[in-house]
Amino acid sequence: MELQRATITAVAHYVPDKILSNKDLEKMVDTSDDWIVTRTGIRERRILEHGATSDMAVQAAQRVLANRGISAEELDLIIVATITSDMVFPATACLVQAKLGAWNAWAFDINAACSGFLYALSVGTRFVESGVHTKVLVIGADKMSSITDYTDRTTCILFGDAAAAVLLEPTDEKELGILDQKFYSDGRGAEFLHMKAGGSLRPASHETVEKRMHYLYQDGKSVFKVAVKGMSDVAVEIMERNKLTYKDIDWLVPHQANLRIVDATAERMGIDRSKVMINIEKYGNTTAATIPLCLSEWWHKGLLKRGHSVILAAFGAGYTWGAMYLKWSLENGK
Ligand code: UT7
Repeated sequence: MELQRATITAVAHYVPDKILSNKDLEKMVDTSDDWIVTRTGIRERRILEHGATSDMAVQAAQRVLANRGISAEELDLIIVATITSDMVFPATACLVQAKLGAWNAWAFDINAACSGFLYALSVGTRFVESGVHTKVLVIGADKMSSITDYTDRTTCILFGDAAAAVLLEPTDEKELGILDQKFYSDGRGAEFLHMKAGGSLRPASHETVEKRMHYLYQDGKSVFKVAVKGMSDVAVEIMERNKLTYKDIDWLVPHQANLRIVDATAERMGIDRSKVMINIEKYGNTTAATIPLCLSEWWHKGLLKRGHSVILAAFGAGYTWGAMYLKWSLENGK
């Protein structure tokens, strides 16, 4: 079967207005602006004060539809990558579908944490490549403030809230679009990064609330080591099998968990910092939103251009990780 090429035909993002700075965090936990900047690269993050993940997702989605000039009813499929769904069920994607009025689309969520957007982009791409669908909306959205323990200095400094989305459509252009992808999972990593309660293993109870088990738990040191190796290994694998050297790549778009992880990944790939999309200083780790948030900001600034070779790479809870290689096909965003 001849596969259709899939490409991104619109991109947009939404971030809440409220800023939580390192100075604000200094008043909440025993930390310092200097420690946070040196160890993570983060200076501030956004916090959604009212509403849920679906509200941010809808804002990003509506901007995508407006950019592309299509109605919500033209969508075939909506995939939302999130670990902070509005409710355990139904899927946040269904809530987004209803709020958009995307009555001809089916909708589901993907739970792959910081790799969520790439997993969702991979699935969406397959639906376009196979010819099943022509308009797939892929959203990465997380209200991380809803599962962050603001008494735990090792995690509360890291996370922020945001949503960003892309539209996938078929293209006849031979050279442009989504060209390759590679993904991994290793469930043995679950013990290092998870939420202890609220699922079927430990349903919510007075005890789980008292023990603060409804927040994200992370063994940062253990995750750090595997994140560097996982993200750089898979990015190098994608480069090698597409016969790419650092000279061929215009942009590396890494998941924004920690500036030191981003730098180590770029170094392994031989890519200069000037070719790496980095906005972690403004938003922290927004989990499923980091990669499309970078793509949207860089495209809107006119820095991500038609024909650019781009590598997306992520690592997150599960463990999950992967990379995708694409040639950007959208005309200049400026
Ligand atoms: O996105 C999904 C994947 N997640 C990641 O990729 C995150 C991976 N991990 C990390 O980014 C880093 O491990 C952290 C940023 C979470 C922590 O940085 P680190 O350099 O690994 O610090 P550490 O955990 O080794 O802690 C060093 C010291 C400790 O003190 P002692 O034991 O040496 O006295 C911590 O208690 O820093 C202390 N510390 C802090 N100090 C001030 C930990 N958090 C803070 C803090 N402010 N917020």
